[in-house]
Amino acid sequence: MPDAITLLESDHEVVEGLFKQFEAAGPKAYKAKQKIVDKIIRELAVHAAVEEMVFYPATRELSPDVEDHVLESLEEHHVVKWILSELDGMDPQHERYDAKVTVLMESVRHHVEEEEKEYFPQVRKLSDRPTLEEMGEVLASAKKVAPTRPHPRSPDEPPANLANLAAGLLDRIRDTVSGRS
Ligand SMILES: [Fe+2]
Repeated sequence: MPDAITLLESDHEVVEGLFKQFEAAGPKAYKAKQKIVDKIIRELAVHAAVEEMVFYPATRELSPDVEDHVLESLEEHHVVKWILSELDGMDPQHERYDAKVTVLMESVRHHVEEEEKEYFPQVRKLSDRPTLEEMGEVLASAKKVAPTRPHPRSPDEPPANLANLAAGLLDRIRDTVSGRS
């Protein structure tokens, strides 16, 4: 079982791989681009939700020193979730589509760099292996039930955001019905 930070960093790698696929797709490869974007939406929706439900509050519990990182991350997630929600169901032939994905990728890459260069190393220093491993287990379980769609209007801090698990169940049913899972 990977520890919390290893798990979150491997999520980042998956998303970066999808970004590279999008960048490599031809401008008129509308179907392919939409498929990639659907995967990006799912990956980022789940990733953001479990960070907000588990990792951010848990690390805040470790030390108030991480507060600034957590608060900035929440705002960055908020912006990312709005872009994802606009891309969800958007026609890939729309003239704003590629630009929206480009801005999404810029925002996420910036967010990932801050987390990996500043926030995660700080958490490693403040924590220990057993704690990070336990957090990793909780994150992995949360990933199985977290929302698969962005919910930018929903609460992003505990305890209110735990209600998003109900949204997660509905998202997963929608994914199954629409054949997107
Ligand atoms: Fe994040």
